[in-house]
Amino acid sequence: MTKILIKNGRVIDPQAGIDGLRDILLENGKVSRLGGHLSSPGAKIIEAKGMLVMPGLIDMHVHLRDPGRPDKETIASGTRAAALGGFTSICCMANTSPVMDNPAVVEYVLAKARQEGVVNVYPIAAVTKGLKGEEFAEMGRCAREGAIAFSDDGRPVMSAAMMRKALEYAKQFDKPIISHCEDINLSAGGSMNEGRVSTEIGLPGIPALAEEVMVARDIMMAKEYGRVHIAHVSTAGSVKLIKQAKQAGADISCETCPHYFSLTDEAIRSYDTAAKVNPPLRTKSDQQAIIKALKIGIIDVIATDHAPHTEEDKNVEFNLAATGLVGLETALALVLTRLVAKKTLTLKQLVERMSSNPAKILRFSHKGTLKPGSDADVIIVDPKAEWVVDEKKFASKGRNTPFKGWKLTGKVVHTIVGGSIVVKDGKLT
Ligand code: DOR
Repeated sequence: MTKILIKNGRVIDPQAGIDGLRDILLENGKVSRLGGHLSSPGAKIIEAKGMLVMPGLIDMHVHLRDPGRPDKETIASGTRAAALGGFTSICCMANTSPVMDNPAVVEYVLAKARQEGVVNVYPIAAVTKGLKGEEFAEMGRCAREGAIAFSDDGRPVMSAAMMRKALEYAKQFDKPIISHCEDINLSAGGSMNEGRVSTEIGLPGIPALAEEVMVARDIMMAKEYGRVHIAHVSTAGSVKLIKQAKQAGADISCETCPHYFSLTDEAIRSYDTAAKVNPPLRTKSDQQAIIKALKIGIIDVIATDHAPHTEEDKNVEFNLAATGLVGLETALALVLTRLVAKKTLTLKQLVERMSSNPAKILRFSHKGTLKPGSDADVIIVDPKAEWVVDEKKFASKGRNTPFKGWKLTGKVVHTIVGGSIVVKDGKLT
């Protein structure tokens, strides 16, 4: 494996306490040195003057559609989208077909990732068989096969009794349950946020409470039984509950996604199915609460909930359209443009929310930092590059983005995974 020396970049690594000009030497898949004016005979030099150099981003919430729907996404296309977006590690959800509720599917995903993946892929196994909420998935065997967390994402674990047992069981492996918080009786029939916009445009609504009652339940569960990571937080009420729970010392963490701080339910006025997502886009005051919670650290993680769908699934009447949007190739630029440029987040906080905190929550001890000895997962980002989102150019098979035509600032120039260059000068190698 070639040695790589990244020179003169602005290195941002909160774990190492660094925000400044440094050189980084990568050797044998690891960061071997981090310092000023490094040299190493024979190393390939990457000049990073004017660039940001950060630990590779870790996306805790991705839907790859293999097995089952390779027309929506494959591990090859999804990991290429990730690499272009600056993600060197992605965690894939269990709502595949068949569902990842047994070790054979975990093994299949890991084998496929080794064959055709260009970034690290970590499977999240199901909590219940077929995501039906009736019988437990083979959680222990899935963990032994390589699952790094458990989730029925796409659906909640509606039974509190099952959630309790799942938490107690997952605790034995020191793995979190990632909770899709939705009371499906409250959300039933809805296709967008319940509020003024849904009333005005005549679409059935999903109340904020459908999320919040389950956030409240899972916080109480976390206090007693195990470790909960709350997926895709979208409402001001959820933020308030999570704040109180953290103050009370509950073992919880949470994430939001770029669409919740970038958009509101106003995006649905045009009946744009690309903006149909679950949980739905909320109101301006929810959006503001999410932004504030990111700033002050109540929200630990920014994940994408990358959910590719086909044209046939989306180009239909709003109520019938599939929920979900693609996010891997726009997430970093949205954070830079909408949060960092507006001084809501510092670059250090960006790295915390998109790399070091996911690594901590998932116990990836050699990731999320560029300290010597850690994995050589590194991204080099041009913070000034302006570009326009063109979904036709995505490496993802999903074209379902509500950010089409948005002008964003900040682009990944190089992505290095385990010491190998996967994206060079903004293009896949
Ligand atoms: O909008 C969503 N799409 N939310 C989910 O929780 C699941 C996802 C999907 O798999 O398409």
